[in-house]
Amino acid sequence: MKKDMVITIDGPAGAGKTTVSKRLAECLSYRYVDTGALYRGVGYEACAAGISSDDDPALEKLCKTLDLNLVLSDQGLRLMSGGKDISEEIRTPAMAMMASAVSARKPVRDFLLVLQRKLGREKKVVFEGRDMGTVVFPEADVKFYLDATPEVRAYRRYLEMKLKSPVSLEDVEKDIRKRDENDSSRALAPLKPAEDAVIIDASSLEVDRVIEAMLSHIQCKYQP
Ligand code: DC
Repeated sequence: MKKDMVITIDGPAGAGKTTVSKRLAECLSYRYVDTGALYRGVGYEACAAGISSDDDPALEKLCKTLDLNLVLSDQGLRLMSGGKDISEEIRTPAMAMMASAVSARKPVRDFLLVLQRKLGREKKVVFEGRDMGTVVFPEADVKFYLDATPEVRAYRRYLEMKLKSPVSLEDVEKDIRKRDENDSSRALAPLKPAEDAVIIDASSLEVDRVIEAMLSHIQCKYQP
């Protein structure tokens, strides 16, 4: 198999990108980068500084001071901001919405574009996000777009979230649809499959089958 690839996995919230990206990275002994966590980190720091999600000058100033790092620890991938672990804080429904809101702003996208490309320099990375194959790594070796129906995505998210706090399926589905709308309709780097992405509908596929399909695509591409 071709060595040292950049692999991108884009798709909407709740499609199972995180589970699949981690597993694929493990299978290939690659690094896994969760770019949504970086957007959540910016959203979290903007909230903490009292900056509104549409205040571009303040967001630009904030980004210049940020020191975001993804670090692999015993507890998995952690997001560090200025040395502080904010991995739990960024995983709330409010932070998901804030991340989606700041991700539509140019200073935030410009800041994270540079950071993400730096992380891709060493190759052997699986990047999970929304615009990894379209904007950040248009030359990526392998691109996937993982999709599922909004109902399936909401139900999966609901099962995950109710382990942590009481939530209703209706609220989770509403949030997912709102984020789909924000992420796909924004002017900058909207969520959409790259022209050369392999689209996988995971609505009724188990994780193992998704991984098999991905590995077999990679094998076929590089060992035809
Ligand atoms: O993957 P996630 O749910 O943690 O992402 C949170 C938000 O960040 C998502 O609603 C849109 C934004 N995002 C983005 O615009 N581009 C990326 N590459 C990753 C995430």
